[in-house]
Amino acid sequence: MSLATTMIAIFLQIITYFLITTTASSPQGFTIDLIHRRSNASSSRVFNTQLGSPYADTVFDTYEYLMKLQIGTPPFEIEAVLDTGSEHIWTQCLPCVHCYNQTAPIFDPSKSSTFKEIRCDTHDHSCPYELVYGGKSYTKGTLVTETVTIHSTSGQPFVMPETIIGCGRNNSGFKPGFAGVVGLDRGPKSLITQMGGEYPGLMSYCFAGKGTSKINFGANAIVAGDGVVSTTVFVKTAKPGFYYLNLDAVSVGNTRIETVGTPFHALKGNIVIDSGSTLTYFPESYCNLVRKAVEQVVTAVRFPRSDILCYYSKTIDIFPVITMHFSGGADLVLDKYNMYVASNTGGVFCLAIICNSPIEEAIFGNRAQNNFLVGYDSSSLLVSFKPTNCSALWN
Ligand SMILES: *[C@@H]1O[C@H](CO)[C@@H](O)[C@H](O)[C@H]1NC(C)=O
Ligand SMILES: *[C@@H]1O[C@H](CO)[C@@H](O)[C@H](O)[C@H]1NC(C)=O
Ligand SMILES: *[C@@H]1O[C@H](CO)[C@@H](O)[C@H](O)[C@H]1NC(C)=O
Ligand SMILES: *[C@@H]1O[C@H](CO)[C@@H](O)[C@H](O)[C@H]1NC(C)=O
Repeated sequence: MSLATTMIAIFLQIITYFLITTTASSPQGFTIDLIHRRSNASSSRVFNTQLGSPYADTVFDTYEYLMKLQIGTPPFEIEAVLDTGSEHIWTQCLPCVHCYNQTAPIFDPSKSSTFKEIRCDTHDHSCPYELVYGGKSYTKGTLVTETVTIHSTSGQPFVMPETIIGCGRNNSGFKPGFAGVVGLDRGPKSLITQMGGEYPGLMSYCFAGKGTSKINFGANAIVAGDGVVSTTVFVKTAKPGFYYLNLDAVSVGNTRIETVGTPFHALKGNIVIDSGSTLTYFPESYCNLVRKAVEQVVTAVRFPRSDILCYYSKTIDIFPVITMHFSGGADLVLDKYNMYVASNTGGVFCLAIICNSPIEEAIFGNRAQNNFLVGYDSSSLLVSFKPTNCSALWN
């Protein structure tokens, strides 16, 4: 949900639920800059081998992966969207001006001894923030510092005092299972940046599409061994926090569709890898080429819709295998589950690639990343993929 949690009714009558997706756009109206207020707490948080590697438990919630973390003193557990497509950490905060319906109890700062409002300026005002995710979802509140705690392989908790988070008091458009969002991009206020440490910017996850799993940081997040492919992360000045990858081509079965010659073609990044977005998005012109290639293979009867490509079928077997070719020879052969989704009523399957307008970001979403151990290394500017049975990994 790269800061654009557009709620889109993706499959309308067929799949009747709403999807939180993320269109990797910058938050609009973010009003303050805290660079001069950064505490030096992070510089003291060196995680060496004695301290172990930090990690957090995650849980799958229909379309999103939620990360469990504890905030405040005494620690209060929240489950918030694990989002490599945005920067800020925020949670709903009492007393609410307007909070969305949250299943779990809402964080109450008055019960935490470490909660501190940030003063933005010399006038002693609190520091407002506003993040707008795509269409209708937003969070508004004040920036605060709080203790954030996750686990560590040492058995001791990994404690991050004075972490800058948003205390959201007017929030709308999110699902009841979410207490907020944990931003994990490369920006200064993301969780991973505020960790600091001796393995800056290392994290990995393995999404199984069900159950519980972990997100690892530091030494434990290194993805290596047989079958690993890596691709470069490109940094763009307009959106320096995003993990841009460069998609060279997509193969549909044996048909390779190059981006060269299309407006999608780039050498220094054309697609954002985003754990907070469910589906994959391509710009329309290129997207249509991929669709056409799928249409050429599938002989089943089309389900009448123009915005997404769907067929009447009882099985996913009718579809061709899709391979994504990222720069540097990182070829990801995707499982059919990663690229095609069933309607909840049964009998219809759709291509899980959505065509975007050219001004929107292309996104490599979490469904497509299923059953890969995905490792981010911000120092080396690499993302690595290792084909893995993620259910087996977390069992
Ligand atoms: C910053 O670091 C110094 C020296 O380590 C320490 O005395 C001070 O309390 C720290 N300040 C904050 C806000 O953590
Ligand atoms: C909030 O959730 C509760 C329990 O699921 C439900 O009873 C209530 O109607 C919901 N309220 C709103 C405003 O949606
Ligand atoms: C909450 O924020 C929205 C969007 O900016 C605004 O329209 C609304 O008036 C706010 N609600 C309250 C109760 O302040
Ligand atoms: C993956 O692991 C799970 C749990 O161990 C197992 O049930 C499943 O069959 C495995 N899937 C594949 C494709 O090997």
